[in-house]
Amino acid sequence: MKKEGYDCARLAEAAAEHGTPLQVASRRKLEGNLALARETLRPFGWQDNIFYSYKTNPVPEVLKILHQGGAGAEVISERELDLALSLGVPPDRIVFNGIYKSPTALGTAVERGIRCVNIDAPQELEILSALAGKTGRRVPVGLRVRPSVGWQGQFGFPIGDGSARGMARRISADKGLDLGVIHFHLGTSDFKAYRRAMDETLGFIRELKQNMDIGIKALDIGGGFPGRDMRMLALWEQAWLRFFDRPWPFKMPAPDDGFKVLGETADHFSRAVKKRGLEGLELWCEPGRLITGDAQVLLVRVVALRRSGNVNYAIVDGGRVGAAAPLAGETRRIRNLTSRPGQYARYDLVGPTCMPWDRLAAGVSLNKVEIGDIICIEGAGAYFVPLETEFSFNRPTFILGNL
Ligand SMILES: Cc1ncc(COP(=O)(O)O)c(C=O)c1O
Repeated sequence: MKKEGYDCARLAEAAAEHGTPLQVASRRKLEGNLALARETLRPFGWQDNIFYSYKTNPVPEVLKILHQGGAGAEVISERELDLALSLGVPPDRIVFNGIYKSPTALGTAVERGIRCVNIDAPQELEILSALAGKTGRRVPVGLRVRPSVGWQGQFGFPIGDGSARGMARRISADKGLDLGVIHFHLGTSDFKAYRRAMDETLGFIRELKQNMDIGIKALDIGGGFPGRDMRMLALWEQAWLRFFDRPWPFKMPAPDDGFKVLGETADHFSRAVKKRGLEGLELWCEPGRLITGDAQVLLVRVVALRRSGNVNYAIVDGGRVGAAAPLAGETRRIRNLTSRPGQYARYDLVGPTCMPWDRLAAGVSLNKVEIGDIICIEGAGAYFVPLETEFSFNRPTFILGNL
C-alpha cells in the first residue's frame, strides 16, 4: 500500500529485516534532488559548482551517490576532508570551510591541492602562508565574510565594520596566497535574505577589484536552502510548546521551496553581477538539507503505550535524544505505517531514554497505534545522522533503499 509516494509495506519489511531504529535513504530521491539542483543552475552554467555539505549527512553510501551525480564536497573538519579524499573525490572538487581547521588538515589541503580553503579565522592565514612557502605553490583561498543578514557571532569577517576589507588586504599582500573566492553562509534563509547578502557582498567584491586590484572569481553562498518534508518551528510555536507543553494549535504556512529559492538566487546573482561590471564571476553553493533532507526516513517501533493525565504516550525505540536531534526546533510529517482506517488518536511520541525531553512530537495525530507498529518520520536526511547519540541505546542502523 502506498501513501503519498511512500511504499509503507516495503518500509515495514525493511524494519522487520534490519530492525529499528532504522534510517532508510532513497537513491532515487538523492539522485533526483541533485539533478534538480543542477538543472536549476544549468541555464547559468554553474551546475558543476554544487559542493554538498558533508556535515549534513556524512554517510559514505549517500556521499558516493551525490559525487557520482556531479556534486563536489564541502568539508569543515580534518575527518570530513579525509573522508572526501578516501571516497576518491578529486581534490579540485573539495571546498574546505569551518571556524577551526587543524594544522594537519590544512597541510593535507595544501599538499593535495584542493579547490579552495575558505579562511574563517585569522590564524589560518599564517599557517597557510607557511605551507605555501614550504611547498612553493600558491594556495587558492577564499574569505568568509559576514553580511548584515544571516548567522553572525563567531562566523566570518563582517563587511560592515571593515574587518573583511582588512583581512582581504592582508591575504592579498601575501604572495603565497591566491584570494579568488568570497564566501558566506546565512543559515536557513529565504530569497530576500540571499538577495540582500549577495548585494552587500557584490559591492564588497567590486570594491576589492577597484581599490585593491583583487580579482575574485567566485562567490560561494553556502547552504541554507530550505529542504522539503521539514519545517523550522517558528519562535512562537516553540514558546507555546514550552509554556503549554502542547503543539501550536493553528495551521502554519508551508516553508519556501528551496529549489525555487536557489533558482531565484542564481537569477538575481547573474543580473546583479552584470549590473556591477563583474562579468565572469561565478556562483558556488553548498546545499545540505535541500539535497538529502527529504531523501531519508527514520523508522522507529512502538515498544510501549501508556496514558498519563490527558495524554496518550506512544513510546518508541528511537527518540530525539538518540536518533532525531533536529526535532528540538523543527517538525516533520509523522505517520503510522500500519493503517487502521478511520481510527485516529493524538499521541506524544517519546523515545526510550530517561530524558524528559526525549520527545519526537507532542500531540501528533496518528492512525491508532498498537505495540509493534512502525512509525515513519519523514525528512530525516539532514542533521539526523550526524547528531545521533549512543545515550543508553544503539544508534539507528542505516540502509540504502528506494522510497
Ligand atoms: C558553511 C556551511 N555551508 C553549508 C551548510 C549547509 O547548510 P544547509 O543544510 O542548511 O543547506 C552549512 C550548515 O551549517 C554551513 O555551515
